[in-house]
Amino acid sequence: MVRHMNQARARVLDGFRRRFGDEPAWLVRAPGRVNLLGAHVDYSEGWVLPGAIDRSIWLALRPADGPCSTIEAIDRVAGDPHLSDITSVSNIAELDTARLPLPVPERDGEVGATWLDLPQGVAWSLARAGHHVRPIDAVFGGDLPIGAGVSSSAAVEVAFLMAWEAASGFSLDRLERARLGRRVENDYLGVGSGIMDQFASIHGKTGHLMLLDCRDLAFERIPLPNNVVVVIADSGIRRTLANSDYNRRPEECRRSVDLLRRALPKIRTLRDVTEKDLDKHAWMLPSALEKRARHVVCECRRVLEGAEALRNGNLLRFGELMRESHESSRDLYEVSLPELDALACTAWSVPGCFGARLSGAGFGGCVTALVQVAAVANTERRLRREFAAAFGRECDTFVTGFGDGAAISTFSTGG
Ligand code: GLA
Repeated sequence: MVRHMNQARARVLDGFRRRFGDEPAWLVRAPGRVNLLGAHVDYSEGWVLPGAIDRSIWLALRPADGPCSTIEAIDRVAGDPHLSDITSVSNIAELDTARLPLPVPERDGEVGATWLDLPQGVAWSLARAGHHVRPIDAVFGGDLPIGAGVSSSAAVEVAFLMAWEAASGFSLDRLERARLGRRVENDYLGVGSGIMDQFASIHGKTGHLMLLDCRDLAFERIPLPNNVVVVIADSGIRRTLANSDYNRRPEECRRSVDLLRRALPKIRTLRDVTEKDLDKHAWMLPSALEKRARHVVCECRRVLEGAEALRNGNLLRFGELMRESHESSRDLYEVSLPELDALACTAWSVPGCFGARLSGAGFGGCVTALVQVAAVANTERRLRREFAAAFGRECDTFVTGFGDGAAISTFSTGG
């Protein structure tokens, strides 16, 4: 894992030297995340249990001389074969920081899908919050699969937020950083996501998950035993949150709340609804909305129960909850796909695998399995073999632990 990380870092540094013929002034690392419980509840202000992983976006930068930022995307970011819209756009771009905040592009219901939307959105978000954004020369890349449900876009946002903070001479507190990152998604890209991804990338701690209350953003770090790791199996199916059904789900949650409020006037989001309330008032909801609401209400309970199981070292119970979470994401929230169901199902049957569920938003991407170290090789083998037998193509798997959150360092050749 460390080797992987060093290689990604070295590729970005080499890319910077090649592009700008000099050493960078700073180097930023912002990790991806997995969320072990709490599927699609962050934007309903529920509870989630994510952790930063040890795969990251790296960004090397220096202040630029001219009025423009010059940004190059290398590595998988630009070269991911699944993202033709990224590879067909040049992987180097200039951003006129003097003209900020840029108007939000007209998207016609489509969400911007080029890599440049992310740094552009970050500059926009900072400028809109009243920060003066100075031009930078930057190269970024990393070892996070893109669009796979491990929060590559939040990691890019966090990396650019920290880069511009350093180069422009201001510093945000961690919460503000997470909020400005989320704003890129919500108000610049038009994705109705919650705050979990940016929060996790910023607040990760080695060996820990975080139980995050997405209403008041209070969180508790919960350690994982060191003989368990995460195996990630990538279905290879790519979606962008924008062109998936993702945005319909927050809308459906809001509509459910509006309807339920007639009987439960005090509720603000589905987080405020208990299972008992829902049983009593489910008749008020059309069947699709009832399913969405039931998922959110039960998933919130699963997260709190899962956190308690982890505190007590009860990984078997935790794994069962992961499985229930996947089944509910599949049957009630309807964000799964046959490939993800097949991967999860394989993982559930491997001895030493506690549990597995789809990662991130679903609609493609990865399945995350919590696995005893001793069972890793067998889990990966089974996932690959059974996926290939069912779908006639390979699935990529990798192993990750939980790592530290984003960090920036002054770059020196020794460092
Ligand atoms: C994406 C979003 C998050 C969250 C998850 C689903 O990763 O960015 O805010 O909604 O999907 O849990």
